[in-house]
Amino acid sequence: MCGIVGYIGLEDSKEILLKGLEKLEYRGYDSAGIAVQNKEGITVFKEKGRIADLRNVVNMDVMATTGIGHTRWATHGVPSHDNAHPHQSTSGRFTLVHNGVIENYAILKREYLSDAVFKSETDTEVIVQLIEKFSNEGMDTEEAFRHTLTLLKGSYALSLLDKENTEVIFVAKNKSPLLIGVGSDFNVVASDAMAMLQVTDQFLELMDKEMVIVTQDKVTIKTLDGEEVFRAPYTAELDASDIEKGTYPHYMLKEIDEQPAVMRKIIQAYQNEEGKLAIDFNISEAVSEADRIYIVACGTSYHAGLIGKQFIEKMAKIPVEVHVASEFTYNMPLLSEKPLFIFLSQSGETADSRAVLVAVKELGHKALTITNVPGSTLSREADHTLLLHAGPEIAVASTKAYTAQVAVLAILANVVANFRNLTVDLDLIKELGIVANAMETLVDAKEEMEEIATEYMSVTRNCFFIGRSMDYYVGLEGALKLKEISYIQAEGFAGGELKHGTIALIEEGTPVVALATQEGVNLSIRGNVKEVAARGAHPCVISMKGLEEEDDRYVIPAVHELLSPLVSVVPFQLIAYYAALHRDCDVDKPRNLAKSVTVE
Ligand code: M6R
Repeated sequence: MCGIVGYIGLEDSKEILLKGLEKLEYRGYDSAGIAVQNKEGITVFKEKGRIADLRNVVNMDVMATTGIGHTRWATHGVPSHDNAHPHQSTSGRFTLVHNGVIENYAILKREYLSDAVFKSETDTEVIVQLIEKFSNEGMDTEEAFRHTLTLLKGSYALSLLDKENTEVIFVAKNKSPLLIGVGSDFNVVASDAMAMLQVTDQFLELMDKEMVIVTQDKVTIKTLDGEEVFRAPYTAELDASDIEKGTYPHYMLKEIDEQPAVMRKIIQAYQNEEGKLAIDFNISEAVSEADRIYIVACGTSYHAGLIGKQFIEKMAKIPVEVHVASEFTYNMPLLSEKPLFIFLSQSGETADSRAVLVAVKELGHKALTITNVPGSTLSREADHTLLLHAGPEIAVASTKAYTAQVAVLAILANVVANFRNLTVDLDLIKELGIVANAMETLVDAKEEMEEIATEYMSVTRNCFFIGRSMDYYVGLEGALKLKEISYIQAEGFAGGELKHGTIALIEEGTPVVALATQEGVNLSIRGNVKEVAARGAHPCVISMKGLEEEDDRYVIPAVHELLSPLVSVVPFQLIAYYAALHRDCDVDKPRNLAKSVTVE
């Protein structure tokens, strides 16, 4: 969480920093600040709230060609002006922005900084005070910075300004993402290439425990032992228009609408010259040779993993376990003899998933990352990567990345089944094409979805999603979508579990959304709908063509039963969208959340 930018060059830095922060707002948006440096010194502007609020307090008359900026998702200390970054050392000589969590900040404060006066509750302020302390003790800035880094435990992406060193931004990274953008006559720093695409598409990756001295015309990367590292920049394959909303009121709606196109792009990306589905031979081999697959993910990606398990077990006949990443590290299950780990992550930066990746790599196991972001941490650190080809997903609520994950998992399962000479009674290319068409129908059904949202979600405080088999997993995702953007208490349940406790929650008028796309369990889920209706619930049945009944609220087009999650999730995304919209919620930036969860 939190986004960082920096600029050092010949132009005035303020607008570049502010525009960059606007592109990083998805990483956190409770407060923001910039610090700009010129011959007169360093000026800090910060404010609680969004970048738009920060703009109101920035004095545009201050000209400065060097600066750093930060958009915050609070970890230590409430969102406030004082806790907003940048933070300064007592004398004001050093100014710092930080993304990450310093686990030993309290110990460091006690051991080294008992005399320092702190202005914020943040862990970050400890870092900047330590740098000043070591500098006061005679170290030059680079040494003081490096020495401080060696004391930190936890994650950090840092950019530091020194009032007495006006030509440099000092940068460091450990576990939190950070890139250096390279230009002619300028260089930039950013948590994500998107932030600096406005000025360059050339970026340098940084590895953990590296520090960087960035000047207007030079970038020097060093290890914490002071050894210089040489690395060539890469070109960020991002189209600036992909990260604009265009005529859409919200990114979420745009991204829901993009799903049919994403399906078609995925079909194309994973086809070989003979028109057959194909993935890298090494990946097929690694998956085929595993005696058990462990899918590790968080949130929406975890829900996609639950569907992926069905694909892999049904098509490729390899047993699969799906784990929530944050639990896995502390509660590692007894592993099989030849496991393969699949990390599912839209961003490729999720700290909980990364902690598992580090742990399983230490045990010597192989890992495949399925991500939307090439070059992301999880992609770099795994043995193999499969890309989602969904294009940048900006809205905090994940939509097109979920369906892309499900589609790529289906392709993986299908290709591995072929690799293992197993017969699969499914023409996946054709069926995914049918899915794309069905998705078109659904994204065009916005009016109906808005009506459903109005009828069921306008006044309710809670809502249940029920389903069986695949529909249960999609219900979990429907509930997550609704709760995270509309703040309606929503839960997904397996239909069969209702009478084991949950049905006690049903009251007069409680909305219960039921999904019926699976022939084998259609009658059972219908039975569950009757049970809740008999207790006063207001049921909303969404069924698939061929299984529909008279009172169903919406019938989705028929697709292959195994692939139904790809289409049945779309009404849930749209219902959540309209529910949030009607409740005046900030659809793209729901409260307390951030897109990329880069702290454990
Ligand atoms: O980037 P990731 O896929 O690793 O993110 C995992 C979750 O944080 C994410 O899916 C989250 O649950 C979504 N915001 C939900 O819409």
